[in-house]
Amino acid sequence: MDLYEYQARDLFERYGVPVLPGIVADTPEEVRAAAERLGGVTVVKAQVKVGGRGKAGGVKVARTPDEAEEAARAILGLDIKGHVVKRVMVAAGARIDREFYFSVLLDRANRSYLSLASYEGGMEIEELAVERPEALARIEVDPIEGVTAEKARAIATAGGFSGDLVDKVAPVFEALWAVYRDEDATLVEVNPLVLTETGEVIALDGKVSFDDNADFRHPEHAALADADEADPLEAKAKEHDLNYVKLDGEVGVIGNGAGLVMSTLDVVSYAGERHGGVKPANFLDIGGGASADVMAAGLDVILGDPQVKSVFVNVFGGITACDAVANGIVGALAELGDEANKPLVVRLDGNNVEEGRRILAEAAHPLVTVVDTMDAAADRAAELAHR
Ligand SMILES: Nc1ncnc2c1ncn2[C@@H]1O[C@H](COP(=O)(O)OP(=O)(O)OP(=O)(O)O)[C@@H](O)[C@H]1O
Ligand SMILES: [Mg+2]
Repeated sequence: MDLYEYQARDLFERYGVPVLPGIVADTPEEVRAAAERLGGVTVVKAQVKVGGRGKAGGVKVARTPDEAEEAARAILGLDIKGHVVKRVMVAAGARIDREFYFSVLLDRANRSYLSLASYEGGMEIEELAVERPEALARIEVDPIEGVTAEKARAIATAGGFSGDLVDKVAPVFEALWAVYRDEDATLVEVNPLVLTETGEVIALDGKVSFDDNADFRHPEHAALADADEADPLEAKAKEHDLNYVKLDGEVGVIGNGAGLVMSTLDVVSYAGERHGGVKPANFLDIGGGASADVMAAGLDVILGDPQVKSVFVNVFGGITACDAVANGIVGALAELGDEANKPLVVRLDGNNVEEGRRILAEAAHPLVTVVDTMDAAADRAAELAHR
């Protein structure tokens, strides 16, 4: 999950990273009130989870509450790379002497963490990284040791900071590392980190991404999620711990194991070419335990997608044998009752497949067709979706 700038600002504040006051606002009137409260020069900033806001007209300096309100009228509703601005942050204006860059991120290729730092930060950092890569220090951070005081100074020095400035930015790097480590982030980026005309170092912008795999250690992160951003079906799937990704087609897909589900998507796409170009409607991996409850939750999510015209259940019985899966399907259909209203094509194979097919045959549910092979089942599901 990525945070909005204002959420990153609040988080930084709790970790002792120096930030300026900021107030979020959803209307030009609220922006005016916020600017009045802050007093002096303010900066109205679009809150969208995409970079390059400044260049897209999403960051405006306002000398008066009138100007802040006017800036808000220009920014609210603005489309920045497909993200429509619904909220802004009114930040106190900084008098900037210099802009720096700092980040810590997960370095997957090296199975480590990486810190990037430069004395020459600001909105042109991407160009700097390409044109003068030597000006952007790339320092590995040992995951166990982290950014110690000594390491922070080494990063600053490598990034081109000198003398007094190293003393000033190093503690900020340490505090940003604490955010990264304690929040289980995969990215903490500050661009720009600034030196003000009065000599203070302040984080003026913040990007933070959390590692979703560590969500269980941070129940408090759930409150930061954007309710209206998430797809309602994906939210429902998440409630049930299902691995679900909504796609754009008509054939709902349920399988066990990510690899099987991925190849099922391919097979359905190929089959769809023979049936009016129908496509898979989703990715849904119900994992190892295909119990009636899990199957019901999965079917419930898929059937809730109005685009879905048919469902392909593709299960390979392993530790959870086919008879358990078959009972799961029968139980799920009973649980869902009238809500199950689209044809289901079921392909079972693997451990105890005969018993599984027998259970489905005996139940003889009017919506269920059992097909023995994956290709034939995909073809049937695509055909049903095309009708
Ligand atoms: N509170 C502030 N006071 C003064 N100037 C600011 C303030 N916030 C931002 N700025 C100026 O605006 C520029 C752009 O702001 P910011 O970094 O927040 O947006 P951005 O870099 O365009 O967005 P993104 O990081 O999403 O690409 C900064 O480099 C800085 O010069
Ligand atoms: Mg920025």
